[in-house]
Amino acid sequence: MTKRQAVVTGGAGFIGSHLAQMLLQNGYDVTVYDDFSNGSGRNNLDRKVNVVKASILNAEKFRVTCKRADVVFHLAVKPLTMSFDKPEEVVKVNDYGTYLVAKICTEMKLKMIHVSSSEAYGTALSLPMKEQHPLFPHTIYAGSKAASELYVRGFEKSEGLKMVIVRPFNSYGEYMRSDTYAAAIPLFFNRISKRKPPIIYGTGRQTRDFTYVKDTCRGIMLADQTKNAIGDTFNIGQGREISIIEIVKKTIKKYNEIVGSNEKIKMKFEKPRRGDVMRHLADISHARRVLGYKPTVNLGEGIGRYVSWRVNSQFIA
Ligand SMILES: NC(=O)c1ccc[n+]([C@@H]2O[C@H](COP(=O)([O-])OP(=O)(O)OC[C@H]3O[C@@H](n4cnc5c(N)ncnc54)[C@H](O)[C@@H]3O)[C@@H](O)[C@H]2O)c1
Repeated sequence: MTKRQAVVTGGAGFIGSHLAQMLLQNGYDVTVYDDFSNGSGRNNLDRKVNVVKASILNAEKFRVTCKRADVVFHLAVKPLTMSFDKPEEVVKVNDYGTYLVAKICTEMKLKMIHVSSSEAYGTALSLPMKEQHPLFPHTIYAGSKAASELYVRGFEKSEGLKMVIVRPFNSYGEYMRSDTYAAAIPLFFNRISKRKPPIIYGTGRQTRDFTYVKDTCRGIMLADQTKNAIGDTFNIGQGREISIIEIVKKTIKKYNEIVGSNEKIKMKFEKPRRGDVMRHLADISHARRVLGYKPTVNLGEGIGRYVSWRVNSQFIA
């Protein structure tokens, strides 16, 4: 039987590299298409994965790469924090880049799994957040993710693109970057491991729906494998709301357990970050029903996996 051919844009990144690995284990032939401008998951790539180092803005190269493809998983992105200092770069890649990927998928009759983000929603206006929740982005990044979805939807409606949109909520796990543009948990770990108080922006009572990266990837893969998912949009999350203070406490607890310490570590509070979302909680009932998606790793276990991986690997993105 011929294998399903997948191209993963942004496949050298945090989520993309886990996804490439999962697709491989599930019988796909995988090509990672990434310009390596920002990926932290390059060390996570199996040797069986083909790698093309190029930008999604290079339409010709992308077209050639997709020649034998059946499906494109589109994850290439410029990160949220970059949208404060280089917003044009973020819009160029996240929006014009997505437009090009959608255009080429349409021309070549490839299925497109577009990976959007819960950031596109902004702060929850109602809880839990269903897919019909309005998109009220708080940052240029969030706006770029919302706009990118609308281009993909436009291609579906007017040009017949076969697509699925998935909106992951905050994902965490091994290979998350820990330097410039790092997300919350790696930054907390950086300080905790040096016995410095982790920095919390604002009150720390803001909430997120943190999801272990392999659960996120299973949701993305199921979006391709479920026939009646075409044209639909799915939240992919844990379905649990947790405050940033609780995340810090769990990270300190896991760190102390793993290194065998009972040292107390305080928290340091600083002024809120620009555009920070106050509440997020995914309603994952649609993904459960249609995709058969079910998160399998709870927060305590997932943070434990991340912390022990950091302690043992001394990883720097
Ligand atoms: N990490 C999360 O918590 C999270 C949550 C929701 C949604 N998402 C979405 O998941 C996707 C992956 O996010 P991530 O956290 O793995 O990001 P990441 O920054 O780790 O990976 C993005 C990858 O895209 C690559 N890239 C950047 N510009 C490119 C270009 N012009 N051409 C080709 N490749 C390019 C980078 O080199 C990097 O490897 C994104 O679309 C993001 O919006 C992430």
